[in-house]
Amino acid sequence: MRNYYWILLMALGLFALAQGDTLPGVVQEGNYAPGTLGSITQPLPASSQPDSVYSVGAWPTYTPELADGPGKELVQGYCQVCHSSTYITMQPPLPAATWDAEVKKMINTFGAPIPQDAAAQITAYLQAHYTPETRKP
Ligand code: HEC
Repeated sequence: MRNYYWILLMALGLFALAQGDTLPGVVQEGNYAPGTLGSITQPLPASSQPDSVYSVGAWPTYTPELADGPGKELVQGYCQVCHSSTYITMQPPLPAATWDAEVKKMINTFGAPIPQDAAAQITAYLQAHYTPETRKP
C-alpha cells in the first residue's frame, strides 16, 4: 500500500516539473543546451514590438567646477593635461597627507611635468578644499 503513495508522489512531481516553463512570470530565453562542436549558437533576438520606443540618456560629460581659491589655475593648467579634474572632485574627502602623496604620485609615478613650487601650491590648494575638514558639499 505504501509503495502506491510513492508512485503517486513521483507522478505529481513529474507533472509539476513538466508544467514548470508555463508558470506565470517565468520567461525562458536563450539556448543552454550543449552545442555542436565548432558552431556558435546565436542568442535569441530580443522580442520587441514593431512600435517600441527606445531612448538613451545624454552622455555624462559634465565636469564639476573646482573650488575657487588660490592655486585653482595651477590645478587646471597642470593636472588636466592627462585627465579631467573630475578625478579630483570624484574622490571622497581625502586626508591632507593623501593629497600630498597623490600629487607626488602624479609626478614621480606618472611623470607629470610639474615644477616643485607649483606642485607645493597645488598640494596646498587640494588640502584647503578637499579634505574631510575642508571639503564643502
Ligand atoms: C602625466 C599624466 C598625469 C598628470 C599631469 C596628472 N595625472 Fe592624475 N592620474 C594620472 C594617471 C595615469 C592616473 C591613473 C588613471 C587610472 O587609474 O585610470 C591618475 C589618477 C589620478 C587620481 C585618481 C586616484 C589615483 O591615484 O589613481 C587623482 C585624484 C589624480 N590623478 C589627481 C591628479 C592631480 C591633483 C594632478 C595635478 C597635480 C594630476 N592628477 C596630474 C596621470 C596624470
